[in-house]
Parts: sequence; C-alpha cells; structure tokens
Amino acid sequence: MTARKLLLLPGDGIGPEAVAEVTKIINWMNSNLNTGFETETGLVGGSAYDAHGKSISDVDMDLALAADAVLFGAVGGPKWNDVPYDVRPEAGLLRLRKDMALFANLRPAICYPALADSSSLRKEVVEGLDILIVRELTGGVYFGEPKEIIDIGNGQKRAVDTQVYDTYEIERISGVAFEMARTRSNKVCSMEKRNVMKSGVLWNEVVTDVHEKKYSDVELSHMLADAGGMQLVRWPKQFDVIVTDNLFGDMLSDVAAMLTGSLGMLPSASLGAPDARTGSRKALYEPVHGSAPDIAGQGIANPIAMIASFAMCMRYSFNMIEEADRMEQAIANVLDSGKRTGDIHSDGMEKISTSQMGNAILEEFQGLSS
Ligand code: IPM
Ligand code: MG
Repeated sequence: MTARKLLLLPGDGIGPEAVAEVTKIINWMNSNLNTGFETETGLVGGSAYDAHGKSISDVDMDLALAADAVLFGAVGGPKWNDVPYDVRPEAGLLRLRKDMALFANLRPAICYPALADSSSLRKEVVEGLDILIVRELTGGVYFGEPKEIIDIGNGQKRAVDTQVYDTYEIERISGVAFEMARTRSNKVCSMEKRNVMKSGVLWNEVVTDVHEKKYSDVELSHMLADAGGMQLVRWPKQFDVIVTDNLFGDMLSDVAAMLTGSLGMLPSASLGAPDARTGSRKALYEPVHGSAPDIAGQGIANPIAMIASFAMCMRYSFNMIEEADRMEQAIANVLDSGKRTGDIHSDGMEKISTSQMGNAILEEFQGLSS
C-alpha cells in the first residue's frame, strides 16, 4: 500500500504530551492493522524559536507542504512573551495555515453523554449537543493589511488591523459549510456583524447567493455574531452548522468548546481546497485547547482533543471512516467507564493521567478493532 505521510508538530506546553498519546496509537495501528503511517517530527512555536530563532523553519514548512497531513499539538507560553512579534509562537501556526492555504477550519463540538454533567451549563442544555463550527481560516483580520502600529506624533500611536474579505473567500467557505450540513442535519447558520461592518454586509450577501444558487435544499439562517454567542450559551442545540469568519470563529469556537465540558475535548481539522487532479487536500489537525502552560509537564493534560483530531485526520485525509468511527467510539466508551483526566473530573469518577487516558482509549480501540 502507499505510505501515509504524517508530519508531527508537537509544539509547546501540553502539545508534546498530547501528541505522544497519538504516537502510541499510530505505532499500534501500524503494527497490527498495517496502516502504513510514516511519521516525521518537526518543531513549531516557542520550541522552534528556541532552536533556530523562528517559529517554524523553512525545512519544517517544506515537510508540512509535502506531508499528506500535519498533526499539530499547541504553541505558546509565558516563556516567549517577550520575543519579537514576527517570530512569536503563534506566528508558526498562522504561517502553516496561510502557506498551506488551509481556508476551512472544522470545529465540531460534541457533548459526550458521560460529560453532560461537567459543563458549566445545565445538563438539559448540552446533553446530546452536536454542532459544527466552520471557521474561515486564511482571511479576515488575522491576515488583512495594513497591520501595524504607527507613530502619529504627540506621544500617540495608532494600531491598525484590517478586516478584509473577497467574494471568493466567502463563497468557498460557505460551500464547505453547506456540504457539511448535507451530511448532518442540513442546517447552516451564518454569523457576521452586518449591522456594523462592511465585511459583514458582503459576507451575508455572498452566503445568501451561494445558498440560492447551489444549496437551496439546506436550511439557511443568519445571525449577528454577538447574538450568536448569546444563543450558543442559551440554547446551543438549535444549531447544526455555524459558518463564520476567522475572528468570530475563533471566539465562538472557544464558547462552543466549553459547552462540551472542557476545552480539552475539542478537535479540529483545517483543510485546503481539493487538488483538481488528485482530489487530495492539504490538511492540518489540531486540538482547540492550546498549550495550557499552567499544567504542562505534569502528565495531567487531557489528550482526548488530540486523539479526536487524529480521528478527524483518518476521516478527512485518508478516508479511513471505520477506523475514525471506532476511535470516536473508543473515546465515548472510556468516558462511559468513568475514567477522567483532571479537567473533566467529577465526584465518583476515576481520575487518571494523560498517558493512562491514552492507554485506555488505545485498549478500547484495540477491543473494537478485533
Ligand atoms: C485557535 C487559536 C489560534 C487562533 C492562536 C493560537 C493563533 O486560538 O486556533 O483558535 O487565534 O486562531
Ligand atoms: Mg482560539
């Protein structure tokens, strides 16, 4: 069989601990299921800065571009608070997104039945929750120019970020949202701020247009992004797919993550456009949680978001649907059995470490695979 080339970029903080649990799973799958994953490991974020003064080297960037998929841990931490802005840890992730043209970020927020009690919201509000945030990832205020702080005299400075979207960017991300909706409950809610922002006006127009022309079978609604944030905590089950821009998507997906019990639960996939000839697409998979420097190195981080990101990798990059389903089932079964890392622990449950959680999920996956 052809090799499946993975680049591992564990990064900083709890990233390496989380990626280590996926590595265990990959090794077992290669030995027992003949999956043929080939892994290389690179540096990103603060650890890359420490090694060569950049948040990702050109060599590692080339590896990322050549891989079938990238598994990304997390970047950042207080150690690098004072490094120059251009080489701050987050710049490595943003470069990966931009250079790999990963415009579509899928962030599913699923509340596992076993965790309905761990959410800060009432059980009936989150139980059975299954929403998908489709976040535009290579445009908007994250990348718009000018982006600068300038001196305007009299001891004053001016900071400028630019929110900018072209029609094609909104078309392609809404296309992804509508396609995803068709595989789910067939509903899309688009969120922007058309009452304040020109980019919101265009966003709303283009989404409406794409819907009319190609996806009128899907139910479309529009919400102002602030109201959307409110509705997400009021009654999140009204949503199926939410499509939104880069900045609103960043914020709304953190809100959605907490509905599921812990930020440690949320995986994500960042996808490029399918290649016209081969149909394959560049892809990077990462947990939404970030580097959590406060708990790094203690072996207590929750590896579930990372493992679930690997399940998304199997699903979207390698079409390994059965294996992905089994991995997600394994996570659900382990949670059902009462095992919990600290972030999702509650009374009467068994508190376990990062590697114990990884082992438990692998064992369960092995059982489901035999
Ligand atoms: C995320 C993160 C990143 C973002 C940071 C680390 C640059 O918060 O993926 O949600 O803002 O996109
Ligand atoms: Mg974020």
